[in-house]
Amino acid sequence: MSNQMWGGRFAGGPSALMREINASISVDKRLWREDIAASRAHVAMLADQEILGAADAASILSGLQQIAAEYETEGVAEDPTLEDIHMHVEHRLGQLVGPVAGRLHTARSRNDQVATDFRLWVRNAIDEVDTQLAQFQRVLVSRAEEHAGSVMPGFTHLQSAQPVTLGHHLLAYYEMIRRDRSRFADARARMNESPLGAAALAGTSFPLDREATARALGFDRPAANSLDAVSDRDFALDYLMAATQCSLHLSRLAEELIIWASQPFGFVSLSDEFSTGSSIMPQKRNPDAAELVRGHSGRITGAMTSLLITLKGLPLAYSKDMQDDKPPVFEAHDLLTISVQALAGMVATSRFNLQRMCAAAEAGFSTATDLADWLVRVAGLPFREAHHVTGRVVKLAEERGVGLAELKLDALQEIDARIEASVYHVLSVEASVGSRTSYGGTAPARVREQIARAKQALGI
Ligand code: ARG
Repeated sequence: MSNQMWGGRFAGGPSALMREINASISVDKRLWREDIAASRAHVAMLADQEILGAADAASILSGLQQIAAEYETEGVAEDPTLEDIHMHVEHRLGQLVGPVAGRLHTARSRNDQVATDFRLWVRNAIDEVDTQLAQFQRVLVSRAEEHAGSVMPGFTHLQSAQPVTLGHHLLAYYEMIRRDRSRFADARARMNESPLGAAALAGTSFPLDREATARALGFDRPAANSLDAVSDRDFALDYLMAATQCSLHLSRLAEELIIWASQPFGFVSLSDEFSTGSSIMPQKRNPDAAELVRGHSGRITGAMTSLLITLKGLPLAYSKDMQDDKPPVFEAHDLLTISVQALAGMVATSRFNLQRMCAAAEAGFSTATDLADWLVRVAGLPFREAHHVTGRVVKLAEERGVGLAELKLDALQEIDARIEASVYHVLSVEASVGSRTSYGGTAPARVREQIARAKQALGI
């Protein structure tokens, strides 16, 4: 049997293999809500423009409503002879309202239809991600508030560098997520133009009101160029690029949790809710969720690369390669949303081992910079010389297996006679952290300022 939508000039039907390679229903059935919404807007506009009679429009609209109700309760039943979601909806409409269903596709093509549906879907996806990211930020801020003064080692090269507070560290991720949200918001604002009415590629001879359908679907305006409207997938790429960068941030925090939860670090205990055991090693508590967040970030990046490469060689306007735009976006969205939620859950429920963190901060001579700064500020040494003197102090402490604060004053003075007893005020990790009061610094007072700003931005 020839195809009911385009079979007019065909004597025979496609082979089973042709049908199989062509089919996208198993993937694009996720667009059913958007497809029906866009069809409703289109039909209402056709009627207003008197392109379609009011009675025909009414029966199409009621049929569409019934299909929406069916899909809502039963899901989309896949028919292998119907290529995609657009054909499924139209076919079902024909069963429900008869030949008038054929009028729905007046002044429309599946090319502007799918471009519209997919934009609507991505727009919703962005809204969903934004809500979840805001929730994640609330978790970060609340844990940061709890730990605004909790000392931990700050690292560079994963070597103990200077003490910081856990609150400060968590707020670094708040900032990353803030930028991610703004990238998604940019993508949303840029994509919010309606392709509907571009038809196959060249526009249409029917007197459409593209402003009206754009408005009805919540778009800011109709897309200006019909060729661009049907072949543009920048919105999907913008989404994937924002998702990739966001997942990179999630992956970095996941990596830190994995390191912190390891026995040699012991900075954090993940909750039972977000840990797994080993089938052979009873003592194990594995950070699988964090590892999967880290792994998913690779897959999300792969999805972005996949769509970039799919699109790079396509001439205007629509080519069927573009049907391959949906799997990477759907996959990335599923991976991103579960990652954000799992990571938020892990951060919310983890127990931080403050003693271990503080001891680790003390262990790595992490107040050496404070000693050098003191030599500059109080003893008047040039910084380079102070650096050198401090290096010798660290070496001595290392030889004796003690912390900087445990060295006796005469031992310090043997290295440099200008060192006085007041130096001990800067050698503790608490004093070090408390002194980092520059804007954006780790001093608890500054961390609390960051928290106040974040809470204001989040409306909490
Ligand atoms: N299933 C198709 C897609 O997702 C819909 C558009 C088909 N258009 C066409 N000219 N064959 O891209």
